[in-house]
Amino acid sequence: MENFEVIGGNELHGEIEVNGAKNFALKILPAIVLMSGKCKITNLPFIEDIRRMLELLEDLGAKIESDESQKTVEIDPTGISKTALSETLVRKLRSSIILAGPMLSRFGEVKMSHPGGCVIGKRPIDMFLDGFGAFGAEVQWEEEAFILKAKDGKLKGADIFFPKVTVTGTETMVMAAVLAEGKTILRNAAMEPEISVLAEYLNSCGAKIKGAGSPTIEIEGVKEISGGEFRVIPDRIEAGTFVMMGLLTKSEITVKNCIPEHLGAVIPILKKAGANLEIGEDYITTKKSDLIATSIATHEYPGFATDIQPPYTLLMTQAKGISIIHEAIFEGRLFFTDQLNTMGANIIMCDPHRVVVSGPTELYGKRLTSPDLRAGITMILAGMIAKGKTVIDNIYQIDRGYEKIEERLQKLGVDIKRVKEN
Ligand code: EPZ
Repeated sequence: MENFEVIGGNELHGEIEVNGAKNFALKILPAIVLMSGKCKITNLPFIEDIRRMLELLEDLGAKIESDESQKTVEIDPTGISKTALSETLVRKLRSSIILAGPMLSRFGEVKMSHPGGCVIGKRPIDMFLDGFGAFGAEVQWEEEAFILKAKDGKLKGADIFFPKVTVTGTETMVMAAVLAEGKTILRNAAMEPEISVLAEYLNSCGAKIKGAGSPTIEIEGVKEISGGEFRVIPDRIEAGTFVMMGLLTKSEITVKNCIPEHLGAVIPILKKAGANLEIGEDYITTKKSDLIATSIATHEYPGFATDIQPPYTLLMTQAKGISIIHEAIFEGRLFFTDQLNTMGANIIMCDPHRVVVSGPTELYGKRLTSPDLRAGITMILAGMIAKGKTVIDNIYQIDRGYEKIEERLQKLGVDIKRVKEN
C-alpha cells in the first residue's frame, strides 16, 4: 500500500506545467473506434484511467504502441473484432460507458457490465440508455452485464433532448451519431471545451458535426471517417487546482501551458475572493492574496466546474468570513470535508449538496483517506498548509488523475514523498 506524506509550511517557487486533460483523453481514445485508419495521440497523460482505457481498446483488438517518455500513443483500430468489453476493466473505469457510443455506431453492437458509480455519486447511466434507445438500439439485460444492439445492425439518426446536462452523455451521443444513418440533433447538450475540441478533431477526419460548444448539436451521419493525429488539450482542472495551490500556500508560482478561458467562472470568482492573479495567454501566476469568503454553486461549463470545487472549498477555510459551497451536480462530493474538519477546519454540512465554511482556521496534519481523485489532491493541498505531517492513503485515486504528482510538486518546493506502507 502506498501513501503520500506531506510536511506543511513551505512557501513554493517556480512554475508547474499542466498536463494533457484526462477528461479529454478519455473521449478521444474511444473516438478512435470510429476511425478507419491509424491514429496518433500526443500530449497524453499516462495516468491510471488512461492506462485502463488503453487496455480496454487493446482487449477489443486495437493495435497500440505507447511511448510514455514522449507522452504519445499510436493506435490502429482496424483490427478491432470483439464487441464485448472486458468486465474487470469496465468496473475499474466508470467512463468506459463512453465506448458504447462509438462501438454501437461502428459495429451495431456492444456488451458491457454496468460501469458502476463512485463515492461522488451514484453516477447513473439512464440518459445513455435512453439515448441509445432513441438511435434504435435495444438493451438485453444479463446477470452482470447488458448488451446493446442496433436494430438492423445500424443506428438511425435521432432527436435527443437531455433531461439534465451530461458531459459524457453528450460526448457519447455525438460519437454514436457520427456513423449513424441520417441526421441527429442533441438538445440541452453540455458545452465543455473538451466537447468542442472532440467535434473539431472528428470533423477533421470527415465527420459532419455542427454546434458543439452550444446547447444544440447537429450531426449528419457519414459512411466512414479517417484516422488522424490529435493533441490532447491542457487539463483545465489541473490548472485550476494548481492556481488554488499557489493561493493556499501564499506563494508566487506560475501555472504554465494552460488555457485560462477554459477555467470559465473559476477565475472571476477567485478575483472576487481577492485573489491576486496575473493571467497570460497560456499561463496564470499567483501572488500573495488576502482572501475573503465568497460563496459558489457548481455549474456546467462555463460555470464553476464541480471538479475544482474541492480545492476551492479548502481555499475558503483560509478566507476571512463565512461562505456557502453548493455542490449542485453530485450528491456525494462534499463528504471529504469531514476529514478537513479533523485537521481543524470549520465546515458544517447542511445537506449532501451544501456546506457552510467559516475561516480562516489553522490546520494541523492528520492521517487522511482519499475518497476520489479531486478530494485526494485537495488533501495534498491541505497537507501543504497544515502544521506538521499529513499522511494520505488510498492514493491510487490520486494517481488516476494526476501524473507523477509528487515529482511535479517537489520541483515547486513541496515537502511530499510517496512511501510504501507494509
Ligand atoms: C464528467 O462526468 C467528468 N468525467 C467528471 O469528472 C465531471 O465531474 C462531470 O462530467 C461534470 O462536469 C469525465 O469527463 C470522464 P455528468 P460525467 O454526466 O459525464 C447525472 C473527474 O473528477 N447523470 O455530466 O459522468 C449525474 O449523476 C470526474 O474527473 C444522470 O442522472 O458527469 C450527475 O449528477 C468526476 N444520468 C449529472 O448528471 C446519466 O445517465 C452530471 O453528470 C448521466 C448523468
